[in-house]
Amino acid sequence: MDFTDFDHDERMIARERLSEDRDEKSLRPLTWDDYSGQKQVTDNLKVFIEAAMKRGEALDHCLLYGPPGLGKTTLAGIIANEMGVNLRITTGPAIEKAGDLAALLTSLQEREVLFIDEIHRLNRNVEEVLYPAMEDFALDIMIGKGPAARSIRLDLPKFTLIGATTRAGMLSAPLRDRFGMVHRLELYKPEELKVILRRDAEILGIGIDDDGLDCLARRSRGTPRIAIRLLKRLRDFAQVRGEGLINREIAEFGLNQLSIDHLGLDLTDRRILETIADKFVGGPVGLETLAACTGEDAGTIEDVYEPFLMQCGFIAKTPRGRVLAPMGWNHLGRTCPADIEKKLSGLGVTSSKSVVSEQISIEDVMNDSDHQDGIQI
Ligand SMILES: Nc1ncnc2c1ncn2[C@@H]1O[C@H](COP(=O)(O)OP(=O)(O)O)[C@@H](O)[C@H]1O
Ligand SMILES: [Mg+2]
Repeated sequence: MDFTDFDHDERMIARERLSEDRDEKSLRPLTWDDYSGQKQVTDNLKVFIEAAMKRGEALDHCLLYGPPGLGKTTLAGIIANEMGVNLRITTGPAIEKAGDLAALLTSLQEREVLFIDEIHRLNRNVEEVLYPAMEDFALDIMIGKGPAARSIRLDLPKFTLIGATTRAGMLSAPLRDRFGMVHRLELYKPEELKVILRRDAEILGIGIDDDGLDCLARRSRGTPRIAIRLLKRLRDFAQVRGEGLINREIAEFGLNQLSIDHLGLDLTDRRILETIADKFVGGPVGLETLAACTGEDAGTIEDVYEPFLMQCGFIAKTPRGRVLAPMGWNHLGRTCPADIEKKLSGLGVTSSKSVVSEQISIEDVMNDSDHQDGIQI
């Protein structure tokens, strides 16, 4: 059977929100106790929140970035909750005109949290309104036209802006600099996902044993949203093929049926690896070319597929494009051709996992050649 037309199946692991994520709301943690993992981020935030509370001030503006489904929106909710204030949610593309943002800002209460999702998609006119709002809690308004025009400054309540983005590199420097803190969310470890899944299974009334949790957690690409989605699908397999309990056997059967391999890679991941191997003899290949050859959107490859494939040590980014690392060749059941291995080590990619899965710092993201054009709308 040719799976290449089977796009819907592949979406099983898409990290963006799907309609079937509708009970995300009931699962979304509201307190630190229920928010597992991301220890460094949460430890720091707890201190900053406590300090701001003691001073009776608003929390500093905060930028959250990382792949979809890792808990950015959830974190914004917890921050507002801990600060004891309302959370106002909007997204970058929803704020079309500078006036829309001005209206939103003037309606905020003292210390309230404004959450702008996909903040890299704000348009420039709107963004310019944000600068004085973030820096001086002020709004500059032009009155009149031509020579008689003058600008007046309105004071805004002291609020906290939380911006979320999958692409920190697409934020303009002036906007990025106005955030008092920048937190990068990491993919979760299987043990952390197990804790999350155990809680969610209980809330949803899904029977799953420890082996089942283990199997699922290892194959969810380090992403809670995917883990939750797969948990619900496995419940169906357990009901129809088993006794209603998700054990290792059911989990493995179900995940295999969904074409998710033992590491959590799906058909698109494998297609990306195979494309680099077959069409580009291991790379380097540019993102746009890779997108065109795999029939995927470049942004989706970058946000959804690449972070995990890089974490696995299967592909690496080099200044000249993406390359298939020796471990990626191995995963396809092939050996990395010797001349390519040599070429790769010249590019700084070796067979050791640590080199390719190294944490990327925000500076690396900012300097990435794919991001040099700044804000794109
Ligand atoms: N650290 C976490 N602990 C528990 N559940 C989490 C955590 N992070 C995410 N989730 C779950 O995953 C879902 C998706 O998270 P979300 O905050 O919407 O991700 P993002 O905004 O980064 O795309 C949430 O509804 C929540 O149930
Ligand atoms: Mg979100």
